[in-house]
Amino acid sequence: MVEIAPSILAADFARLGDAAETVKSAGVRTIHVDVMDGRFVPNLTIGPPVVASLRQATDLFLDCHLMIVEPERLTAAFAAAGAQRITVHQEACPHLHRNLQIIRDQGVEAGVALNPATPVTALDEVLDQIDLALVMSVNPGFGGQRFLDLAYAKIRSLDERRRARGLSFRIQVDGGVTTENAGALAEAGCDSLVAGSSVFATSDPSKAVRLLEESASRTGQRLA
Ligand code: DX5
Ligand code: ZN
Repeated sequence: MVEIAPSILAADFARLGDAAETVKSAGVRTIHVDVMDGRFVPNLTIGPPVVASLRQATDLFLDCHLMIVEPERLTAAFAAAGAQRITVHQEACPHLHRNLQIIRDQGVEAGVALNPATPVTALDEVLDQIDLALVMSVNPGFGGQRFLDLAYAKIRSLDERRRARGLSFRIQVDGGVTTENAGALAEAGCDSLVAGSSVFATSDPSKAVRLLEESASRTGQRLA
């Protein structure tokens, strides 16, 4: 089953707890939390205190996508705040192998994200160390951008590597996910579709989640 992971980047930041509970009522199990530092990406969002507040407000799985430089400096703080998966960017980690170990040492899941321009081969040496590979289908930093088709080949390539090596990491896509591409993304090999605007910028986020799920399952049932 492909999961929809709503990104709270598109929600009302004054009511994040309500946003989480709203999509929970639609069966969502994961909330995607976009952390931006104004350096790795040209935007600034939230830090560990907000994650800690979210942790108090919901029991949903907190999937933290760190778009920050030197993520090792904040890994323990995010884990202590309640993050259950920490995803760092390959481009922000010259010592990626060590960064992943630091995340796992905190007892949380470890993910790595790839910018659109970064090839999948950049992960070849760490695929057995990760719980999640995140394929960015926009350049990170903002919600509401147009989906980049280059993501499909990268997802297929990761799925092939996963099968060939008998690994079980999950594949997530992030950016510009809509009911138009959800089915094709599931079919390409995605397990998790991050959706910001197409959930929280609608008048009925619960309904939007259900529509995305329907679209994803229409042609994407083989991972069930
Ligand atoms: C972009 C973030 C995404 C963002 C996606 O840098 O990583 O998670 O929230 O938003 P949409 O779904 O609107 O493209
Ligand atoms: Zn994200």
